[in-house]
Amino acid sequence: MSADEKNEFGQISRRDFLRLGWANGVVRGAEAVERALGQTKKKAEGPVRLGPVERFRSLPVGTVQPGPPGSRLYVVRIEKGLLALSTRCPGDGYPVARRPQDPSEDSLAPHGRFYCPADASIFDRHGRLRAGPAPRDLDIVTLRVNEGILWADPAALLVRTDGDETAGILPLESPAK
Ligand code: FES
Repeated sequence: MSADEKNEFGQISRRDFLRLGWANGVVRGAEAVERALGQTKKKAEGPVRLGPVERFRSLPVGTVQPGPPGSRLYVVRIEKGLLALSTRCPGDGYPVARRPQDPSEDSLAPHGRFYCPADASIFDRHGRLRAGPAPRDLDIVTLRVNEGILWADPAALLVRTDGDETAGILPLESPAK
């Protein structure tokens, strides 16, 4: 934008502001399409090997572990077992970040939650939406154990429905004390 498109205070005109907003919307829309295509591509990939299930059983309740690079999932140790959450915000698909120092939104631990940097949606460690404009909870990635190895299948996403407290949980007893 040239200097003569700004007013005497160095501010852009309303028309230019709207034009920029429109351009920003186009860029953001294009990013969303790109992310959606990326998800489609990801869905064509197979299950992700996460490692020996014993290693996950012994994690303290409340621990959040990112999946292997590119897997787009978090594994959460909850009281009843393990839960794998998609890192894709159900809003526009932006990657949701772990915020281990933030106040907790659940009773699993005093600190830690997930945060969507695009629109500031907040999710607890169960992936439940606690604040912000995202349309629903984080999607759940299906987990299974085969011969002692934990696998996640990012192609098999579960969309949680209200009040469903057990969806997608892989039951695990607590480690023997
Ligand atoms: S993309 Fe996460 S709330 Fe909009």
